Amino acid sequence: EEDDHEELKNKIDKLVITLPKDESFGVVNYKYQGIWFPFTAIRGAIAFQKLFKAQDSDIILASLPKSGTTWLKALIFSVVNRSRYTTKNTPLLTTHPHDLVCSAEINHYRDGLPQHHLLHISQPRIFAVHTHHASLPHSVLDSNCKIVYVCRNPMDNFVSAWHFACSIKGKIGESPPLVDESFRKYCEGAASFGPFWENVLGYWKASIENPKKVLFMMYEDMKEDIVSELKRLATFLGFPFTEEEEAQGLVEEISSLCSFENLKNLKVNQNDSGSNPRVPPNAFFRNGKVGDYTHLLTPSMAEYLKKLADDKFAGSGLVF
Ligand code: A3P
Repeated sequence: EEDDHEELKNKIDKLVITLPKDESFGVVNYKYQGIWFPFTAIRGAIAFQKLFKAQDSDIILASLPKSGTTWLKALIFSVVNRSRYTTKNTPLLTTHPHDLVCSAEINHYRDGLPQHHLLHISQPRIFAVHTHHASLPHSVLDSNCKIVYVCRNPMDNFVSAWHFACSIKGKIGESPPLVDESFRKYCEGAASFGPFWENVLGYWKASIENPKKVLFMMYEDMKEDIVSELKRLATFLGFPFTEEEEAQGLVEEISSLCSFENLKNLKVNQNDSGSNPRVPPNAFFRNGKVGDYTHLLTPSMAEYLKKLADDKFAGSGLVF
């Protein structure tokens, strides 16, 4: 089996050099099946697609980066493991959410090879992906595993991505990526895991066609009413809160545990060095606000992106 994996890795390496390549936000992306994968994810994404065997109990957390992935990792982990841990002894207090729930493309199939820790993930297994719905491994679509998608308005998503790019170490030229240039790439769909509208629309449509399989959540709705959204999430995952748990205030307790303020202030998430040497753990917690884009985008840029989103999402029922 290891030989097969090595052979696949060689094939992937050969394939990657033939793919269209472009740079955005100081990162080199490769275009595969219409998706712009960053160099850190392209090989893993292909291996994940070819090798991953979903189990019916698996949970796939899908998103565009900078849409609330970290928040959902903490929430999903807490919901499905609440018989195992309390909010006082949960590993979330000592482990970064990204080390607790890893990325399929970037961690589990790093560089195109399945990693050994794949065999040791606790049940139910939770995987984070940024791959578009149409390119998910067949077994994800064919099995009974569940998919949770988290979506954020594109203006805040862009601004969060730009700030995140600024905090990454070892980027091209070491200087912050230019806002105008990054904005242009984002609007063209050439940012990592873009085009954003295809990433969003694939899961949006799947959630409408098959609401038991795909749950579509909005960052903004969660900011407005986390208690209702958390209950909706738990019910979808097959771990609904009981009346007794609700009466005990457990929904509120998990919401507070996973709140931006609480997670940001945990020592493990404040470090400026962690398991990924390029990305400091605190880069995942900036300010967690809705509408923060007005501080970076000019009114005409914001207007342009809103109009673009209106056009791209026209007729879908999605409005930002
Ligand atoms: P900002 O840059 O706007 O602050 P992702 O987790 O997909 O990488 O997204 C990161 C964004 O989510 C950042 O947005 C980050 O601050 C915000 N975020 C992280 N944890 C959060 C939480 N628990 N609640 C709300 N927002 C959170």
